[in-house]
Parts: sequence; C-alpha cells; structure tokens
Amino acid sequence: MNELAGKHIVLGLSGGVACYKSAELCRALIKEGATVQVVMTEAAAQFITPVTMQALSNRPVYGSQWDAREANNMPHINLSREADAVLIAPCSADFIARLAQGRADELLSLLCLARPAQQVPLLLAPAMNREMWAHPATQRNLAQVAQDSATVLAVGNGDQACGETGDGRMLEPAELLEEVIAFFTPKVLAGQKVLVTAGPTFEAIDPVRGITNHSSGKMGFAIARAAREAGAEVTLVAGPVHLSTPRGVQRINVQSAQNMLETVMHKAQAATVFIATAAVADWRPATQADQKIKKDGSGQTPVLGFVENPDILATVAQSQHALVGDLFCVGFAAESHDLLAHATAKRARKGVPLLVGNIGPATFGQDDNALLLVDAHGHRELPRASKRTLARQLVAEIAMRLPR
Ligand code: CTP
Repeated sequence: MNELAGKHIVLGLSGGVACYKSAELCRALIKEGATVQVVMTEAAAQFITPVTMQALSNRPVYGSQWDAREANNMPHINLSREADAVLIAPCSADFIARLAQGRADELLSLLCLARPAQQVPLLLAPAMNREMWAHPATQRNLAQVAQDSATVLAVGNGDQACGETGDGRMLEPAELLEEVIAFFTPKVLAGQKVLVTAGPTFEAIDPVRGITNHSSGKMGFAIARAAREAGAEVTLVAGPVHLSTPRGVQRINVQSAQNMLETVMHKAQAATVFIATAAVADWRPATQADQKIKKDGSGQTPVLGFVENPDILATVAQSQHALVGDLFCVGFAAESHDLLAHATAKRARKGVPLLVGNIGPATFGQDDNALLLVDAHGHRELPRASKRTLARQLVAEIAMRLPR
C-alpha cells in the first residue's frame, strides 16, 4: 500500500541475535515505500553481514564515523539530517546504556546524539535476554532514554536464542512495521476511547450447531487498527473470526448477540466513540438444546422457533452516556439495494449521528469495499478502496465530527 512512501528511515543495527530479523524488516520497510539507510555497529556486523543489508536496502551500509565516502567526513551529520526517523532494531542493552549516557564513540550512537531531536524521532526496538531486560540498570536506562524523547517499542515474550523463555525478544518484522506506520499516523483520535464491534455472531442451536453469517470482520478490524494508529485507546469486541488482533488493541472475543451486548454495555461506559461494524444475527433460536439434537430415524426434521436479538447499536445509542453527547455512535448498514434510502432510514431508526452504508453481499470477506456516509447534513461517498484505506478515511471523518 506504500504506507511509508516518501519516508527516509535510518535503520540502525546494534549487536544481537535479533539482527537476523533486521533483514526482513529492511525489506518490509522498503516494500511499504520507504527508503532505508542502514547503519551498523561493529557488534551487529558479527551477527549479519553489511553485504546482506546493502543488497536489501540497495544502499551502501555505514559502520564507521571515519567513513571517507562522505565529502565532509561527517556521516553522523549527513545521515541524521536526511532522515524522517531513526529506528534502532535490534537495540541491545549496551546500546540503550550508551544512549542513556549520550556516548558518541562510534557512528550509530554518535548519529543518535547528533540528530536534530525535534525533527528526527528515535525509535528503539529492544532485544535481549530476559535477565538483561529485567535488570534494574536496563530499566533505568530505558526510563532515561524515554525521558530524552526516544520512543521505546515493546518487546515480545517467548523462547529466546539462549534457550530461556521470557520478555526481551525483539518484535517480529511485521509487528515493527505496524509500529512504524502507526508512529507516522497523525494522532487525530488522541485521548479518545474507541469501542468497535466486528465480525458475525454465532447463535447456538445445540452444543455443536448454530446460526451465523458470512461477515469476515475485516472492516471492523481495519477500523480498530486505524483508530489505534490515530492515537485512540481501542477495545475490539469480536465475534468468531479468524483474524489476528491489531497491535495495541484490546480484543474481547464473544459468540452470541447477547454476549456481545453485555460486553459492549460494560465497555461503552468508559468509551467516547462506539463503532458498530458487527453483523449481529437478527434472530436466535428460541431455545438452545443442552445436548446435541439427534436424528430419531423417523425422517422428521426439528422445528426451530426464533426470537429477535437485542439491537446493540440502538441500545447503546439510547444510553444516557450517548444521549448527553459523551459517546459518539457510528452504525453500519449492510444492504443489498437502495443503499442511500435504507442507510438514511436506518440512521434515523438507530438514533446515531453517523451511519455508514455498504452493499453487504459485495463486501463480505473481500479486502476492498465502498462506503456511503450518511449524517444529519447529507451523504458522502468513499469510493471503492481497500478496507485499510477506507478505515483510515472513516477514522478521519469521525475525528472531524467529534466535539472539540
Ligand atoms: N446492529 C446491532 N445489533 C443488532 C443488529 C444490528 O448492533 N441486533 C448494528 C450493526 O452492527 C450495524 C447496524 O446495527 O451497525 C445495522 O445493522 P444491519 O444488519 O445493517 O441492520 P439491521 O438493524 O439488522 O436491520 P435490517 O435487517 O432491517 O437491515
């Protein structure tokens, strides 16, 4: 998607086994449109060769402050001035200590110290053994570099190269890519608490069967991700879907419409924005058998009765929190025809300020969609694009409508 188009990133590698992930990270950044200048410490070059990093970044790698290739012999100045961000991945315990002390006796730390800190942010992806990570010295140094305006990314938890298990793994390349993209996203939802429902619901008939629908949850997950990138604290209430949770989003899995309603009503109390993308089943079986319903050999089919499910969106929109204007509610409408008329009527019926219409059968499971935004002032189309793009546009539209 070229989400990093026009961005120039200095990718710094300090010494650690996680250097093997930096090769993939470099490719991922470039695939998203960034240009990448690799700078390596001597220790990093013990773990991965500059040749690999040069081939992947398509630029000579820098490793020494005495590099004569620069006419003024000041690679620390030149490289840091042209960057949009410096990303140290892996960032070793030693390198964090060096940053905390403001040391400058090799190119990478010199470059970090020499960068214009207001314009060129510094992102750190720590990577180390769990004991090193937990050591008070490391935690003290991390607090210091964060205070000095570095952005310290999270570490992963799991098996470590040393054979131990715990905190301190470097995030995976795909996770780091998500973090970098999020970092560059304007924080139009800073301070907001966004609650999103996504996916289908599953209404049980008996312990092994149930009724559901084709909703994939992709749009809701994309919105949750975009809202988090825009600075919001995001809770995602998801029906049964096979999608990975966007980074930094709190996910709560639910099954039935009633489960979803309970969870949403609880979480909505603290939310400032509610976005209902879930394709909630309109009806559920009137009774749910405790045991599997068996064929009795007579050829008789079971008779299923249905009751209507609660309308989650309408219930939230009618809550005191929403009525006094503390919770901005956004509904979706999955229609098969006459989108504008149905979406307009649905907006009024649900009592929400913004309703987003789409043609259900054309979008379920797809990676792209087209949206029709209906509010009190009229309607506006967001033309066909990827759900990721639409999610970002929708987040911007919601941000514009929030009370200042
Ligand atoms: N919705 C909900 N709870 C329900 C049904 C729908 O919260 N029980 C929400 C959806 O998440 C969506 C909006 O209401 O934001 C509209 O959903 P949709 O299925 O398009 O409409 P329905 O209310 O089911 O109406 P109809 O079936 O008549 O189109």
